[in-house]
Amino acid sequence: MPQPHPVDTADTATHTLVIDTDPGADDVIALLFAMAAPERLKLQALTTVAGNVQLAKTSRNARLACEWAGRPDIPVYAGALRPLKRTPIYAANIHGKEGLTGVDVYEPAAPLAEGHAVDYLVRMLRAAPEKSVTLAMLGPQTNLALALEQAPDIARGLRELVLMAGAHFNGGNITPTAEFNVFADPHAAEAVLLRSGVPITMLPLDVTHKILTSEARIARLRALGNRAGAIVADILDAYAPQEMKHYDMPGGPVHDATVTAYLLQPSLFKGKRIHVEIDSREGMGFGQTVADWYGSLRRPANVNWIADGDAQGFFDLLTAHIARLP
Ligand code: BDR
Ligand code: CA
Repeated sequence: MPQPHPVDTADTATHTLVIDTDPGADDVIALLFAMAAPERLKLQALTTVAGNVQLAKTSRNARLACEWAGRPDIPVYAGALRPLKRTPIYAANIHGKEGLTGVDVYEPAAPLAEGHAVDYLVRMLRAAPEKSVTLAMLGPQTNLALALEQAPDIARGLRELVLMAGAHFNGGNITPTAEFNVFADPHAAEAVLLRSGVPITMLPLDVTHKILTSEARIARLRALGNRAGAIVADILDAYAPQEMKHYDMPGGPVHDATVTAYLLQPSLFKGKRIHVEIDSREGMGFGQTVADWYGSLRRPANVNWIADGDAQGFFDLLTAHIARLP
C-alpha cells in the first residue's frame, strides 16, 4: 500500500518543524536535541498539551527547554487542558510533581506566545505550502485532533507526522496493553489516524525500550562540560533508575528523544508500514495500539511502525548535538 504521499527519508533531509509536547523529562531531552540542529530542523514553534503533568507545568517546562537551549525566541503556544473525552491522567509518579526529574525548575524569562496552540496550528498549516510541515508529537495527540476537527483542510499543509506513541511487541507501560501517550487520549489518537490522511511514523515502546541509557552513556553527556550536557545527565540520572527497576531493564529509555533522532537520522531505525488501529473502547484494551505486524487483517497500511533502532548510534547522535548547546 503506497503512502498518502512520498516523504524524504534521507539522513540529510531538512524539516520545517513544529513539536507538540507535554514536558516531561524525556520531552525536554527531545527538545534540547532538536534545538541543537537548526540547520536541519527549522523549528517554528512548540505547542504544549496536558499529559505528563498539567498544562501550566508542561508549558513552563517547554519554555525552560527553550531557555536552556539558548532559543527563547521559539514561540511556545499552550494547547489542550484536558483530553477529548476521557478523565485526565498524569504521570507525575514518573516525571515528578513539576514534570521534570533531577533538575530545578523555575519561571523562565520568555512568556508564552499569545493564543491557543490549536488556533496556531490551524493558522500556520493553512498558510504553509502543501505537504511542507513535519509535526512531531511527543505527548497525547489532543491538539492535532482538535485542529483537524475544527479545520480538516489543514492536513494539506502537513508533510508527515512523527509520533512517540503506542506499544505492540513490548506491551504497555501504563496498562498491560497501552502506552501512556495513547492511553491519555485514545480518542485523539484515533482521530489523528483516521482523519489526517498524511504519512505517519510511530516510535512505540517496541523501539524506545531497546535504546537504553548506561552509566557510560550518561557520563559522556556529563563530560561535555556544558550546561545542557549537565541538564540531560541530571535528568537521566533521576529518571532512568525507576524505569530500570519497574521493567527490570539494564538502562532507562529516552522515549521522546527517539523522535528527534528519527528526524535527523532515520537510517538508525528499522520498521515497516503496517495497519494500526486504536482501541478506544472501555476495557482492558483501552488505549492499545492494535498493530497488525503480520498483515493478518489485510487492511491498508497507515503507519510506518518503528520496531528497532541502533542504540549506540542514538546516543552518539544525541551527545554530538547536546555538545553544541550552551
Ligand atoms: C511517553 O509517555 C510519557 O510519560 C513520556 O514523556 C513519553 O512521551 C512514553 O510512554
Ligand atoms: Ca512526552
